[in-house]
Amino acid sequence: MHLLTWYLITANRLKNMKLLIKNIKTLAQVHDRPIKFLAGPSMKKLKTINNAWLAIENGKIAGLGSMKDWEGISDWTDLEVLDATGKMVLPCWCDSHTHLVYAGSREGEFADRIKGMSYEEIAARGGGILNSAQRLRLASEDELVESAQTRLDEIISQGTGAVEIKSGYGLSVESELKMLRVIRTLKQTNAVAIRSTFLGAHAVPPEFTGRKTDYIKVLIQELMPEIQKQKLADYCDVFCENNYFTPDETKEILEAGKKHGMRPKVHAEQLSNSGGVLAGVKCGAVSVDHLEYVGDAEIEALGDSGTMPTILPGAAFFLSLPHPPARKMIDAGLPLALASDYNPGSSPSGNMNLMISIACIQYHMTPDEAINAATINSAYAMGLHETHGTIAVGKTANVFITKEIPSIAFIPYSFGSNLIETVILNGKIAFNS
Ligand code: NIG
Ligand code: FE
Repeated sequence: MHLLTWYLITANRLKNMKLLIKNIKTLAQVHDRPIKFLAGPSMKKLKTINNAWLAIENGKIAGLGSMKDWEGISDWTDLEVLDATGKMVLPCWCDSHTHLVYAGSREGEFADRIKGMSYEEIAARGGGILNSAQRLRLASEDELVESAQTRLDEIISQGTGAVEIKSGYGLSVESELKMLRVIRTLKQTNAVAIRSTFLGAHAVPPEFTGRKTDYIKVLIQELMPEIQKQKLADYCDVFCENNYFTPDETKEILEAGKKHGMRPKVHAEQLSNSGGVLAGVKCGAVSVDHLEYVGDAEIEALGDSGTMPTILPGAAFFLSLPHPPARKMIDAGLPLALASDYNPGSSPSGNMNLMISIACIQYHMTPDEAINAATINSAYAMGLHETHGTIAVGKTANVFITKEIPSIAFIPYSFGSNLIETVILNGKIAFNS
C-alpha cells in the first residue's frame, strides 16, 4: 500500500466518526433514566420507540428519538448514515457467564452422554473439567488467544457486545495465571467489553486428589495475591456442588477473593440443591448462576439481596438438566439474567439469540422478559449496567441492527437463525453480514 493511502486511511480511522441510524422500525430497551436491573413485573415490558433514530458520537450514544420529531442533519462532517427501514435496533447482548478460553473440544464426551453416561460419571472417570484442564495446560498462550478470538468473533457476529470470561481450566498456579493473561490480552485487543473471573475453584486437580484443603490454600495464599498484584481478575467464582466445593469452602474462597479485590460469583444449584445460592447471597455475590435445583429457600434468600439470579439455558439444554424455575423466580418478584455459559463441556455455544429462544420456549419467559434478562440484567451481573445493557444517551454505543423482521418477538421465535445484520461496538461497525 502507498504510504499516503495508508496515512489517509489511518487518519480517517482516528477521526471522530459519527453514526446516524435512521428510520428504525423499533428501537428497543430505551431507558432515559439510569437503571440497575429490572425485577418481577417490571421485566414484562420492553421499552421501545417505533420509527426512531439513534445518533452515535465518540463511541457513545449521543441522541435518540422519534423520526416524527427529527430535525434532519445539520452537520454532515464525518457522518455515516445507516438506513434501518424495517429493522430493529437493540443494545448488544451482555453475556455475563462464559468459559470461552479453552483448548480442544469434548465431542467424545458428548457422544458418550448420548449413549447413556451422565455428566457426573464422565467427570468421575477423569473427563469433564479435568479433561479440558489437561489440554489447556499443554496449550501456549498464543494458541489460546487465537482460538478464543475466533469464538469472540463468532459471538460478536451474533450480537454480543459484552462478555464475562472465566479461568478454571488451568487449576495450577502457572496455568490459571496463563488463562487470566489470555483474558487480559483479549480485553486489550477487542472492542467488545470483557470482564474476567478467577475460577480456580472449578474442580480439584489430580495432583491434589484427597487434599482439597491444600488446593484451597494454593488458591488463597499463592494465586489470589498474584492475581491482585497483576490486576488479572474482576470477579472470583466457585463451582459449589457435590464432589466439587462445599458451601463452607465456597464462602471461604469468596471471602478471600473479596479481600483480594474480586467480587463474588457462584456456580450454584446446577446438578443438585447444594447450598451455592445461600453461600453466594451471604457473601454478597453479584450473581448466582445455573439454578436448576433452586427451591423456595433460595428464592426467599435472593429476595432483594442485590444478587442477580442468572440462568444458563445452553448448559441445561445440552446436559438435559431439569429446567430452572425461571417463571417462579420472576413471579416471586426476583430479577433474572440470562447468559450462555459458553464452554466445551456443557454449552459449546455462545449464541445469545439461542439462549433467549430456549428461555422463551422451555422456561415460559416472554420475549420481552428474556430480552430484559439478556441485556440490562446480565449487564448488572457483570458490573456493566452503568455503561451497557440499555439504549440511553451517554452509554457505550454497543448496539446491533437486525435484518428486516416483523417484530421484536420474531427474534426468539426464529430460533436457530441469525437475524443480526450489523453490530456496532464503541460506535464503530464491528460486523456486517
Ligand atoms: O458452567 N458447572 C461447572 N462448570 C461449567 C462446565 C465446565 C465443563 O464441563 O467444562 C458449567 O457448566
Ligand atoms: Fe459455567
